[in-house]
Amino acid sequence: MGIRQYSILLLSVCIYLPILEATSPNIVFILADDLGWNDVGFHGSEIKTPNLDKLAKNGVQLDNYYVQPLCTPSRNQLMTGKYQIHTGMQHQIIWPCQPYCVPLEEKLLPELLRAAGYATHMVGKWHLGMFLKECLPTRRGFDSFFGYLTGSEDYYTHHRCYHISELNVTRCALDLREGEEVAPGYDGMYSTHLFTQRATDLIHNHDHKKPLFLYLAFQAVHAPLQVPERYTAPYSFIKDKQRRLFAGMVSAMDEAVGNVTEALMAHNLWNNTVLIFSSDNGGQTLEGGSNWPLRGRKWSLWEGGVRGVGLVNSPLLEKPGVTSRELIHITDWLPTLLNLAKGSPERTTSLDGFDVWKTISKGTTSPRLEILHNIDPLYVDIAPCTGDPAQSLLPDLTHKPRPVTSRVNQSDGFDVHIHAAIRYRQWKLLTGYPGCPLWFPKPGSTSSLQSSPPCPTKEAAVRLYNIEQDPEERDEVSALNPTTVDFLLRRLHHYQSGSKPIIFPDDDPKCDPGLSGAWGPWA
Ligand SMILES: *[C@@H]1O[C@H](CO)[C@@H](O)[C@H](O)[C@H]1NC(C)=O
Ligand SMILES: *[C@@H]1O[C@H](CO)[C@@H](O)[C@H](O)[C@H]1NC(C)=O
Ligand SMILES: *[C@@H]1O[C@H](CO)[C@@H](O)[C@H](O)[C@H]1NC(C)=O
Ligand SMILES: *[C@@H]1O[C@H](CO)[C@@H](O)[C@H](O)[C@H]1NC(C)=O
Repeated sequence: MGIRQYSILLLSVCIYLPILEATSPNIVFILADDLGWNDVGFHGSEIKTPNLDKLAKNGVQLDNYYVQPLCTPSRNQLMTGKYQIHTGMQHQIIWPCQPYCVPLEEKLLPELLRAAGYATHMVGKWHLGMFLKECLPTRRGFDSFFGYLTGSEDYYTHHRCYHISELNVTRCALDLREGEEVAPGYDGMYSTHLFTQRATDLIHNHDHKKPLFLYLAFQAVHAPLQVPERYTAPYSFIKDKQRRLFAGMVSAMDEAVGNVTEALMAHNLWNNTVLIFSSDNGGQTLEGGSNWPLRGRKWSLWEGGVRGVGLVNSPLLEKPGVTSRELIHITDWLPTLLNLAKGSPERTTSLDGFDVWKTISKGTTSPRLEILHNIDPLYVDIAPCTGDPAQSLLPDLTHKPRPVTSRVNQSDGFDVHIHAAIRYRQWKLLTGYPGCPLWFPKPGSTSSLQSSPPCPTKEAAVRLYNIEQDPEERDEVSALNPTTVDFLLRRLHHYQSGSKPIIFPDDDPKCDPGLSGAWGPWA
């Protein structure tokens, strides 16, 4: 090759490289809290979600998409790309005074994206631990953070109360931070507005030289049921007060999603953005949510607890306007987004997630055949299992339930007393008590609560369902498919043998937000 050709080649390499860098897509991940299967318009809900419906319709709707049954676990899996059993966080959620967080040796998604050149911002709910400063979002890969650290709080005062049973005291304090600093001064501002405003400000101020990663984890639509009246006004036809308030909260969140997408378009970011919308777990039927016609609810391994609401919208989708029936799990986002970002997963070890971008963008077959929903030998259901909130006391979610000691004995294969579930292709196997087993009626219908025909209560049991034919988990078919049952029990045993010891420490009495004026690191 002559000198002239060589320098042309060099020149084109020099020009080409910066363009390559600039094309890494912006990633906007919107996570809704406690949004049920039947709580969005595109699933047929009576709740109106025009913005989400539009994104689902001309994007890719994820119809066979799974999350975890609780807040901390889903967020943990999103951030690590690993199953709960592989981080020691298979049991429950992180309560405000528990001294632990996602193990510090884990490299979280924002840290990996930052290494790939991204500006990384988080707005909203963290819930991945905060007893040490090293656990905070800004120490785990986010350039900026505006939001709260615990699992729930008041939407206007941003205060959280928590009862420490060891001391028999209830502590209440603000939980809102700007970076690592306490953020007073937002009293009276509804969190859906506050967080949307912050998200659109970040979009407005974004320096286009870097790709953007924005993680917007709404407080909506978790309890307490609070919303400005204008959002409930269109729902006077909903007689149930909880459902009406909940519907208003969903509408406010839908408006927020509209505002965020508009801001991306207005600032010329949209044409190179991948927007993902996901729920974190099933709806809480005691607090206005609905997973109809699916069985169970949040805190359970039934489909009502784990089948997620999900969609992807982006001008980069090669075949938009479709509903994907391919199996996708929340652990898949980390490798998928990292590959889109041309980032390097080399610092991550043994992921449970798969890169599903081709599946989403082009409609190819999902590389995922199996999902470990969870294995939790300490499982307890904290809420009353009944359909009528008036007949039961609402669960006191300011208290941490005490785990029971399990009867784990592995020498004989998988102990079917253990609360666990696994999916393989169309099959789902559940063992132990999966959580509240009821089918809650469609909101507004007069049909009463249906309990499971031979009501399997808390005794050990193995249940098998063909989810593709029977998504409502009505026909238990383990007796007809002994080979499948054996195979799935062996898979559970395999996973159980490789699980990390459970981290679930007692409350630390030293956790006193009174000292700093807010919930936050104390150790
Ligand atoms: C906890 O405190 C409350 C009031 O402060 C008291 O009524 C209750 O008996 C105490 N419970 C225990 C177990 O000490
Ligand atoms: C969306 O933007 C409009 C117009 O700025 C504003 O009035 C509304 O409060 C915003 N909605 C949310 C949920 O932030
Ligand atoms: C996106 O829009 C900007 C501004 O209009 C333009 O410069 C850029 O080339 C577009 N990128 C893509 C991938 O179309
Ligand atoms: C575990 O199971 C084995 C075989 O069934 C039995 O011999 C052993 O005593 C059990 N261990 C405990 C701690 O229950």
